[in-house]
Amino acid sequence: MPPTDTTPEAPTPEEAPKTPLSKTPLPETAPSKTPLPHGDTPGIRFEKVVKRFGGNVVLRELDFTVAPGERVTLIGPSGSGKTTILRLLMTLEKVDDGVIWIGDRSLSHMERGGRRVPANEKHLHEMRKQVGMVFQQFNLFPNMNVLRNLTEGPVHVLGVSRDEAVERARGLLDMVGLADKIDAHPSQLSGGQQQRVAIARALAMQPKVLLLDEVTSALDPELVVGVQDLLRDIARQSDLTLLCVTHEMHFARDISDRVLMFDQGQIVEEGPPEQIFGDPAEQRTRDFLQAVLAT
Ligand SMILES: Nc1ncnc2c1ncn2[C@@H]1O[C@H](COP(=O)(O)OP(=O)(O)O)[C@@H](O)[C@H]1O
Ligand SMILES: [Mg+2]
Repeated sequence: MPPTDTTPEAPTPEEAPKTPLSKTPLPETAPSKTPLPHGDTPGIRFEKVVKRFGGNVVLRELDFTVAPGERVTLIGPSGSGKTTILRLLMTLEKVDDGVIWIGDRSLSHMERGGRRVPANEKHLHEMRKQVGMVFQQFNLFPNMNVLRNLTEGPVHVLGVSRDEAVERARGLLDMVGLADKIDAHPSQLSGGQQQRVAIARALAMQPKVLLLDEVTSALDPELVVGVQDLLRDIARQSDLTLLCVTHEMHFARDISDRVLMFDQGQIVEEGPPEQIFGDPAEQRTRDFLQAVLAT
């Protein structure tokens, strides 16, 4: 069954995960006792990645690296392939050429008898477990209450006991400020609340890499800042490797160690946020920033 945006996890029993250990206590702003993922965080590397849809070449031998624990924001025009990059990392799409690495393992290939062969389902599953994604349109399971949205994946995909999954879900709901919505269904929640649940659900899977795809662009303006503040806290308190796509430039500035300006399948320029937003080198970046800031 090919995974899609609307079915974020296909529950399949797997062996129990390693429990992540927090090296540092959470600051007082987060009331939760639940540790965020820490330790042995992998980085990401795209190596000459090509992705086409029919004759439309979306990624052209794309090369970039995100270091372990680094927080990188991708900016660039609509339709330039940013979501495709995240969907490839989620194994929702396959590369046509090149290699995507998560840590020291290829997403699309595995070693067998010293040779590199195409990944089988088990390898894909192992790799997928390391990566969590929050989508623009939340993509919660509409027929499940908040608690089950947070426990289905851990129980069925990670093999966590139901008691442990529930305890962890409570901790995460505390952290996102929605402990009182544990029995609610998604349709009973505001967009901002649904996105908080989606963030908690992604973290419940104990990912090492977190992908954020324009996570506030479907929200009413007054709800945007709260969700951004939450994500900023999460980014600061964990050592997750973070790859974020956003059109909110102040959020990008706040959350990232590095910004990649992306256009027509390739990185146009990259640098620390102060440089990209304050003194971009490339005309294409200047034009893009001007257009975004004018809206
Ligand atoms: N499943 C798909 N089938 C065909 N074309 C697609 C598909 N997904 C994306 N595309 C095309 O790939 C290009 C990049 O899309 P996308 O990655 O969504 O861009 P962005 O997120 O930067 O707006 C667009 O031209 C889009 O139409
Ligand atoms: Mg997109």
